[in-house]
This record gives sequence, C-alpha cells and structure tokens, in this order.
Amino acid sequence: MRAVDIIIKKRDKQELSTEEINFFIQGYTKGDIPDYQAAAWAMAVLLNGMNPRETTDLTLAMAYSGDVLDLSGVVDIALDKHSTGGVGDKTTLVVLPMVVAAGVPVGKMSGRGLGFSGGTLDKMESIPGYRTNLTTEEFLTQLKEVGIVLTGQSADLAPADGKLYALRDVTGTVPSIPLIASSIMSKKIAAGAQGIVLDVKIGLGAFMQTLESARELAELMVDIAARAGRRAIALLSDMNQPLGYAVGNALEVKEAIETLHNRGPADFREHCLKVAAHMLILGGKAQNEAQGRELAEKTLADGSAWEEFRKLVQAQGGDVRYIDQPERLPAARLQEPLKAPQSGYMAQIHARLVGEAAVILGAGREKKGDPIDHAVGIVVHKKVGEPVEAGEPVFTIHANDPAKLAEAQQMLQEAIKISPTPVEPLPHFYGVIGE
Ligand code: URA
Repeated sequence: MRAVDIIIKKRDKQELSTEEINFFIQGYTKGDIPDYQAAAWAMAVLLNGMNPRETTDLTLAMAYSGDVLDLSGVVDIALDKHSTGGVGDKTTLVVLPMVVAAGVPVGKMSGRGLGFSGGTLDKMESIPGYRTNLTTEEFLTQLKEVGIVLTGQSADLAPADGKLYALRDVTGTVPSIPLIASSIMSKKIAAGAQGIVLDVKIGLGAFMQTLESARELAELMVDIAARAGRRAIALLSDMNQPLGYAVGNALEVKEAIETLHNRGPADFREHCLKVAAHMLILGGKAQNEAQGRELAEKTLADGSAWEEFRKLVQAQGGDVRYIDQPERLPAARLQEPLKAPQSGYMAQIHARLVGEAAVILGAGREKKGDPIDHAVGIVVHKKVGEPVEAGEPVFTIHANDPAKLAEAQQMLQEAIKISPTPVEPLPHFYGVIGE
C-alpha cells in the first residue's frame, strides 16, 4: 500500500477501505508518512467528504493510535461530556460534581482554551495549587478513591489526533465535519468513555454557525458512537451570546461556585441541569430527562454538588480557602463598566467578539503556550431580549493593563446591538439527537 494512492483515491471521490484508513493513520503517527502527504489527504477529505463508515474507521484508527483507557474495573459506566467550545462555557465545573453527587463517579479529561473559546483546565488553574497534569495512575486511583477527577488529556491518548489537529490548524483543514467528528470522538473513546453527552454549540461564538451544520455534526458523532459500541446523546445549544454572565477564568470559577450554591445565572443553571440530566440517564440513575433533572436539582439544593466540587479541588492539590471564600481568587486591578449608548432592547451580544475581547485582556492565548492572566475577563449584565436603559452598564471589563482595556472596550462596543423595538430572547436549546 502507498500513501499517494490513498490520497489519489480520496481526491477522486472514492471510498477508502478500513485497511487504507488504518495504514494511513498508523503510518502518519509513526512518522513514516510525512506532513505534506497528510496535509494533501486532509484537504481531499475536506473537499470530498467521508461516509459514516469511513469516519468511524478514522475515529477508531486515531483512538487506537495510542493508549486506550479501560475504566471497567473502576466504575460501572464510564461517563463523559464534551462541549464543542464556546464563550462563558463553565458547564463542566458544575455538571461533574452534580452527576457525582447523584451517585455516578466521573473521571474527565478536559482541554485548554482554543482561540476565543475558553478551556476548562485554564479555568480550574485559577485555583492556586490545582493540578491538571495527573498521571494515568493518579487518574485511576483518584477515580476509585474519591469518585471525581478533572484533569488534562494525557499525551499518550489519541496521539494521531494531536498530530493531525496541529496540521489541520495550519493547512485550512479544520472545518470538515468528518474530521471534526472523528477528532472529538477519538479522544473520548481513548479516554475510555462508554456513555457520552455531546454539547454541540451553534451560533456566532461556535464552530458551527448554522443549525443544519450543527445537526449534521451531532448526528455523525452519535452515529460513530453507536458504530463503536458506545452510547451518546447530543444536545444542540445556543452560542450566539455568552453562556451565563462571566467570561474569563477566575470570573467563571466564581460563577460556577455561585451556581453550585444553588444560585447563579438562570440560563447557565438551566444548561447544567439539562446536561446533567442526560448524563444521569446514560449513567442508569434516571429513566428520562424529568427524573434526571429532579435528581440534579436536588444536588444543588442540598449542597452535595458543592461538597463534591470541594472534594475534587482538595484531591488535586487546590487550596480550598480560595473556593470557600471566592473573593480570594485572582481579581483584576481595573474594573470598568461599558455603558449602553441608547435605550431599547438587547438584540445582540456577539459571543465571538466577547470571547476575542477576553483574549485581548489576557484571559486566552494568541498562540499555543502563551501565559494567561486568570484574573481578567468580562462580566455581561444583559441577555438578548432584555430591556436596556441608556447609560446602564452592559459589561464590566476586568483588566490589568490600561492599553488592553481600551482595545477590549472598542471591541465590546461592536459586540452589542440595541433595538428600539422588543426582541425575542434566544432559545437555550435547539434539539436533542440520539437515544
Ligand atoms: N475540537 C476537536 O477536538 N477537534 C476538532 O477537529 C475541532 C474541535
């Protein structure tokens, strides 16, 4: 078999066999197939697509390109969740403790921020001492003994995806539905997941800008899971405006803590309850969404979800004084309101622009490996559809650098639209796919 023949076949819109896909991914992982051939192949896939069978083969080839965790001796069912990324998305910080408090242990591997979209590890590292680099041994021991783990993905899992994703990032081959679906699902399968809740975001602050493309991605991931012998459900959720109010690492941790104390923004709480309810269905604790939701709500009301979050922070070396008294978490020196230029109704709070403004302030990275400032970010005070008075603060910008503050102010002015006539609120969800 030769790599060039596989590239030609895909260029000519033909279906690749399982053997050809395995040959290509194994060869690329080992370094026998060079980047330029992998780039040509990825472009052929982007242009000509792959059917669900090919996409599942690609997923499995990438999942098995390194270690695959087997959690069967540690938990009854290995549950996971995945968000396709967004602005203000601190869902994992709340949902994980809720699900664990409702009786299903969860060990989860998360990622860092990517561009304007925030990352769970960066948020958790706002808590002094919190370790996100557990070894596989530590991961398994903590899952068994404490029942809750939230750490970074080990480099030994799905190395083919790590290599291919970096290549796609610089060759214009990220926005391909089969490549995105296989990339996400290969990591979930390698991390041992048996039941997965996929939170597929749609809108201005998401990879998928239209409901049609988000639905196609969600259906494909659910199909891959079924073909690979896993259970999955996908929620289609809104990412036109930020989720909750806080955007930026320590600010988001504070909002997650508020929510775990049974307060927090209504949209974010609603989001967490829905994701948790579906995880509890997959975990065998609930028959339907209403039951799962009731169980999840109880963990917020009785403080048990908060207790699980505290256990998690303690187990991973975090200083719990910072979460017991969140005012101790990193705070920015400058806190400036940005006021509404006119009265009316909020018509747009552009999630991507808010995310980009947060990156400018230092909450995210311009390029891989850049340091981040955990203290900075943006608090949004309005939701689309709400009335607004001229001069009322729409955002509070938390900054440590006056020049960056000025830049973020300019960007945030562009992010909002105010309508003189009433505007409908945005939906939280657009549908559920699978199961
Ligand atoms: N997230 C991933 O993990 N992979 C992609 O290809 C896109 C988003």
